[in-house]
This record gives sequence, C-alpha cells and structure tokens, in this order.
Amino acid sequence: MDRRSFLNNMSAATVASITGAATLSEKADALEEAMAVELDKRIATPYFCHLDTTPEVIAGDTYYMHDDPRLPKMPEAPTLIDFFKLRFAPANHVLQSAQLAKIKGYDEKVVLACLLHDICVTNLIRTDHGYWCAQMIKPYVDEEISWAIQYHQALRFFPDTSVDYEYPEQYIRFFGADYKPEPYIVQAHKEAKKHRWYMTSRLITLNDLYSFEEGVVVDIDDFTDIIGRHFKQPKEGLGFDGSPVAHMWRSMIWPNNFL
Ligand SMILES: [Fe+2]
Ligand SMILES: [Fe+2]
Repeated sequence: MDRRSFLNNMSAATVASITGAATLSEKADALEEAMAVELDKRIATPYFCHLDTTPEVIAGDTYYMHDDPRLPKMPEAPTLIDFFKLRFAPANHVLQSAQLAKIKGYDEKVVLACLLHDICVTNLIRTDHGYWCAQMIKPYVDEEISWAIQYHQALRFFPDTSVDYEYPEQYIRFFGADYKPEPYIVQAHKEAKKHRWYMTSRLITLNDLYSFEEGVVVDIDDFTDIIGRHFKQPKEGLGFDGSPVAHMWRSMIWPNNFL
C-alpha cells in the first residue's frame, strides 16, 4: 500500500482513532488497524469492470452501445481465461484462494470452486454474491462446484470446530460484534450441514480467510489445466451460447451499454 497516499486520504474517523490513542505504541496499533481495513476495502471495493458506471460520452456518441474504448476488447468467443485476463484482472482474491487450495492438495473441484467463488463481486454484483456466482457458472461446471459456491455465502458466518474454522475476525470489524445473519442465511447453513457436499463448500471458506495477501501475485495460466478439465467452455464463447446465464457474461463484456 502507498503509505503517503493512505495518510493523505485518511477519513476523519481514522484520524480520530489514531490521534485519540494515548501512547505511541497504541497510535501505531491504530494506524496498522486502519491500514488493514483500508487494504481489505481496496481489494473488495465494488466496481463494475473497474470503470466508472457513468463514463464520459465520446465525440459523436450519444450513448454507449458498443465496445468501451477504455476496456480491452474481448474476443468474439471469449473463454473463462479471457474473462480473467481482460475483465477480472487482477482478481487477486480468488487467484490466491485457489492457489492456497492447490498447495494444500485439495481436489481439483475444490480448487476450481475457490477460483470462481467470488468472481461476481468485483465484476458484476456484490450483494448475495454466493448465489450470483453459483448461477453464472452453473451451466459449465459439475453441480457440486456451483452448489458449494452458493452455500459458502452462508457458511462463512458459522464456525466449524471440526475443521478449525472460526468466525472471521474481520467480520467483527466490518459488520460489528452483534451482527446476526439474516434468517435465510441461517436456514441455508442448516440445509448445507446435512448435505453430502457440505465439506466442499466449507473448504471454500477455509481457503478464503487467509487469501488477502498483498504482494502475492498468482497467474490465471497456472490453472489452465484444471479449468480445461472441469469448466465446460461453450464453443460459441461465454455470453453467446444461448444459456440462461449468457446475459451475465455479456454484461461484463459491455458493462456500459445504455440499454
Ligand atoms: Fe465469498
Ligand atoms: Fe472470498
């Protein structure tokens, strides 16, 4: 993180927490905490294909209804890897999660689930992301993978001591110590616990927690083989295969089209 720009752009609350600390060491702790929160925010900031959603109109154009010149042009039949390179990049969070799962030697299905578990968050939509991510990949992966991705959204909130999964400390910072998940999330956790694929979903949450590491760069090309074996790439390209989710992929190709 660029310390100078961080210090120049601190919020009033951050400044107050640092200046309000009594000792030098408490001030250092407050600063470190603020930087950690900022790093999480920076990595998880919702944006649609990295662009302002209200772009400047270009000369001779009333509204965008074409390729956005600020985005790399997509091939006519885009693959999942094209999306990673031309739309999702840097995609550090999912790449780091998948790499962690691979290093730990988990099944390739788990590695792919980790690679895809949050792809809609920074590129399409943030709210209810487990459900959205699961839906956009469902036609192309084994049902176990999309199921696991859907349920990871709920499982994150519930500890599982059998695999040393604890409630994420950062959620206390994000949502407050008294945050209670919505009833549908509680219900989803209950269902998932009884399901034969529970552990696949649980493994996503286990590889999720420690994956925000600054400076660790993972390449999507490291996953070419796993994607090739487990992701049914449509020959017409994602967005053009007439599947029920094709529009989601097209929305990432042309994120700023007017209608
Ligand atoms: Fe997630
Ligand atoms: Fe995640």
